[in-house]
Amino acid sequence: MLTAKEEKHKQSSATQASVYMEKLQRKSSCTFKHCTRLAQLADTFAAALGLSAKERDQLIQGCYLHDIGKLSTPSSVLNKEQALSDQEWNSMKKHPVQGARLAMSFYEEIDNRVLETILFHHERWDGQGYPNGLSGENIPYFARICAVLDAYDSMVSDRCYRKGLSSSHAIDELMRNSGTQFDPILVRCFIKSCI
Ligand SMILES: [Fe+2]
Repeated sequence: MLTAKEEKHKQSSATQASVYMEKLQRKSSCTFKHCTRLAQLADTFAAALGLSAKERDQLIQGCYLHDIGKLSTPSSVLNKEQALSDQEWNSMKKHPVQGARLAMSFYEEIDNRVLETILFHHERWDGQGYPNGLSGENIPYFARICAVLDAYDSMVSDRCYRKGLSSSHAIDELMRNSGTQFDPILVRCFIKSCI
């Protein structure tokens, strides 16, 4: 049970979060829609993983905000339809750190799991991800979950410039990268329970 003061802080942080997500929607509706779908997928997956109500809320919030740092990515990079140059790619790869900084600025006391999801959702199971090159179970659990949902949604969704893959093709890709990019247990559980 939250105190009145804690409840007020929670509400003002939620308002701030939605202000920034509205900005993201104006900047890149594709990214905003992806974040919204990820929050929905997180809700479904949370039940399959047996998370508590509090953990479910943390996962949904982290997935909803995971790409908030793209507010700092130049629009010319974010909305580019062709392949990114090395310089553009480096700029894009800053978004987890930029997102974590932004979230810390609008949450008086940000939940650590939400923060970790934003900061580490591009880490890879084999340690080849970014920003920190964490590997295996050193990657926070909710960030590992977000990585699977993020990849699945990115593959199956239509973009302005390409049609999304079929669900079965996306499953093949998840399986192919299970144990290198993704936590193999989470991939198995996601495919079994959410698709
Ligand atoms: Fe991302």
